[in-house]
Amino acid sequence: MPTEDALYPSSSTFKLFSQQESQRHKPTMAPSEIQNAETKPKQSIPLLTPYKMGKFDLSHRVVLAPMTRLRSYGYVPQPHAALYYSQRASPGGFLITEATTISDTAQGYKDTPGIWTKEQVEAWKPIVDAVHTKGGFIFCQIWHVGRVSNRSYQPNGQAPISCTDKPLTPPANDEDAFTPPRRLTAEEIPTVVNDFRLAARNAMEAGFDGVEIHGAQGYLIDQFLKDTVNDRTDEYGGSLENRCRFALEVVEAVANEIGKDRVGIRLSPFADYNESADTNPQALAVHMAESLNKYEILYCHVVEPRMKTMADIAESPHTLTPMRKAFTGTFIASGGFTKEDGNAAVAEGRTDLVAFGRWFLANPDLPKRFEADAPLNKYDRSTFYTSDPVVGYTDYPFLDSTASKE
Ligand SMILES: Cc1cc2nc3c(=O)[nH]c(=O)nc-3n(C[C@H](O)[C@H](O)[C@H](O)COP(=O)(O)O)c2cc1C
Repeated sequence: MPTEDALYPSSSTFKLFSQQESQRHKPTMAPSEIQNAETKPKQSIPLLTPYKMGKFDLSHRVVLAPMTRLRSYGYVPQPHAALYYSQRASPGGFLITEATTISDTAQGYKDTPGIWTKEQVEAWKPIVDAVHTKGGFIFCQIWHVGRVSNRSYQPNGQAPISCTDKPLTPPANDEDAFTPPRRLTAEEIPTVVNDFRLAARNAMEAGFDGVEIHGAQGYLIDQFLKDTVNDRTDEYGGSLENRCRFALEVVEAVANEIGKDRVGIRLSPFADYNESADTNPQALAVHMAESLNKYEILYCHVVEPRMKTMADIAESPHTLTPMRKAFTGTFIASGGFTKEDGNAAVAEGRTDLVAFGRWFLANPDLPKRFEADAPLNKYDRSTFYTSDPVVGYTDYPFLDSTASKE
């Protein structure tokens, strides 16, 4: 059964809104908001200050973190996703989609969306349009699960692919959760890099503003990065430089395809999700940040070291500061943030933007609630990964509706 602890369920024409356009989509302020804006100037809340991320003029720094929701039946995004994402969109706000598969070998969960067929690309268009109509920006998180899969998700029932043939440990209640992976040959790797490139091209075709390469949480790219998983002896394994090669080849291919100013990457060097840990995460973090600078991509999105155990915040000897200092583009931090420590992180320059997961899932109007200092809806983890198109998905109340019920 999917749990929050898993953060994912268990395995069983580029369009920039001009300021004028954004204004046009700006909703009229309710009297209570006007009063609030008068008493508490927006500029005094660091998370709600504007930020220029490349060519994207963000009106605030509260980002929707990527979150898998398992409601894309048959791997095709559904109309209810247009409502879900548009509910969380705001003029000048930045959203990242749920992890979206790049090919038929990239899948490891049921009902996750893809972006490698014409049908999937067409299905994404109204979702992206709905966000743009509200003046928001949206990037597609492109994803390959690697060994976090099972042959039932793979073409012709084949073994999942990875940098290694080391299997994942199955959960006690599901011994067949993961099929032992097949180690990619060095000659096959360019095909997978090309799948990322094509997915990015498809994302542009669907109207996305850019893509976030999913290099985090134990999936394919992270499997290459981490020395406890990557046991290769060729140019893709061994040294730090070799282990980072696949990730950087993907970054280069995607940036060449759609433009470096539309590319972000998500990394979790300090995490050990999906049994993907590194023995020297700080060195990996800084090496990746420095290497990424050469490609001048838009942003680097990093999961906080404290999110090591997925569900709970744990003490960690590490911080993102060395990585933040090493990276020259926009820095996004995420994992366990509240309004208070998000504000502190921005005020102290520890990050440019903060991505919120669970709080944004449960509070479609999260930036507005921060501005109004309003209470937050609690999230219901039992519906994170259910497939209902409404319940636990688009039925979390907005501030206005909460107020009217009280
Ligand atoms: C339901 C759910 C689904 C998630 N799916 C993804 C995903 O598709 N891609 C990803 O990079 N992270 C995913 N995550 C991790 C979140 O992006 C985020 O890092 C995590 O929730 C911690 O941040 P938070 O404390 O603000 O919730 C998911 C988390 C949750 C709760």
